[in-house]
Amino acid sequence: MKVLGIETSCDETGIALYDSDSGRMLQRLYSQIEAHREYGGVVPEIASRDHVVKAAPMLREIVDEIGGIGAIDAIAYTRGPGLIGALMVGANLARGLAWARDLPVLGVHHMEGHLLAPLLADDKPGLPLVALLVSGGHTLLVDVAAFGEYRILGQTLDDAVGEAFDKTAKLLGLPYPGGPELAALADSVDASRFEFPRPMTGKPGLDFSFSGLKTAALNLVRAHEPLDEANRAEIAHAFQAAVVDTLRIKCRRALEETGYRNLVVAGGVGANRQLRAELDKMARRHGARVYFPALEYCTDNGAMIAYAGALRLAAGQADPEPLDVLPRWSLEDLPPIR
Ligand code: KG4
Ligand code: ZN
Repeated sequence: MKVLGIETSCDETGIALYDSDSGRMLQRLYSQIEAHREYGGVVPEIASRDHVVKAAPMLREIVDEIGGIGAIDAIAYTRGPGLIGALMVGANLARGLAWARDLPVLGVHHMEGHLLAPLLADDKPGLPLVALLVSGGHTLLVDVAAFGEYRILGQTLDDAVGEAFDKTAKLLGLPYPGGPELAALADSVDASRFEFPRPMTGKPGLDFSFSGLKTAALNLVRAHEPLDEANRAEIAHAFQAAVVDTLRIKCRRALEETGYRNLVVAGGVGANRQLRAELDKMARRHGARVYFPALEYCTDNGAMIAYAGALRLAAGQADPEPLDVLPRWSLEDLPPIR
C-alpha cells in the first residue's frame, strides 16, 4: 500500500509517500524557519499561509516522481495537536484529494508520528517500551505496551524542553530556533564554572518542569553582562548539561518503574548529540537499549505521518467524513492499532 503523508502542524511542510510493501519512502520537506526568524518564534498566520503556498507544489513533485496520482492508495494527514490554521491546510489538502480520488484517509496524531519514527530504521525497537518525546511543544514520557496503546507516565508542568532550549538561546543572543545553536555553543567547551538545578529530580515522579532553568539562565546572563564569549559558551554548556541530566534521570526512573528494557527517544530535541550519548550510556548501564530516529526523522516531517498512517490504515482504520483537526489531543485517546 502506498500511503501519502501530509504534515502541516507547525512550521514545517512535509509531504511523503511510504510504500508499505517495499519499505521505500519518498519525501519532500520545507522549513519555514526563515519566515519566522525575525519574530523570534512561529507566527501562526504566516505558518498557515506558507503551508498553502508550499504544500501543493511539493505534492506535485512526489506525484511526478511516482508517475501519477493513481499510484496513491491512501492518505494520512496530521490531525493534531498543533496550530489550528496550519493543521487545517493539511487536512483540507487530504480531504480534497481523498474526495477526488475516492481514497481512504486517516488523521494521524503528530506525537504518535514522532514516537513511531524510530521504526523507520532497520534496527527497530521491540515492545514494550518507554518513549521520551521531546519537541518544541511537548515533553512526554510514555508507557508503550503496544503501538497505539499509550499511557502517559510524566509530562512537563510548564515549558517543553525544546521551548526551554529556544528561550535560553534567545537570552544568549542566538537566532531562532535556538536549540541546535545553543547545543553547538554548549559543545564548543568541555566544562563550565556554572551549575544549573536538575528540576524535579529530587522527589519521586516522572513529571518535568523546565521554566526554572530559563530563569536561572536569565539570572546568570544579567550577572555577567555584557556577556563575553567564554561566559556565553559556559552558560550554554551548564544549561544543556542540566537538561540532559534531568532527562537521563527521569528516563532511568521510567525504565525502573515499568521494568521495560527498551527506550525510544523522538522529537526535535532527540537530535541533541549530548542527550543521545548520555541516554545511550545510561541504557547500557541499566541493561537496556535506546533507539533514536535517523536525524532527518527527528524534527517534523511527512515521512513519520505516512508511516504512522500506514500502520493504522493496514489495521483497517480510516476516518469517516468530514475530516477535522484537533489542536489539542492526548495520545491516551488513540485507539489501539490492531
Ligand atoms: O519536533 P520538532 O521539529 O517540532 C515540534 O513539534 O515542536 O522540534 C523542534 C524543537 C525546537 O525547540 C528546536 O530548538 C529543538 O527541537 N531542537 C533541538 C536540537 N535540534 C532541534 N534542541 C536541542 N538540541 C538540538 N540539537
Ligand atoms: Zn513535532
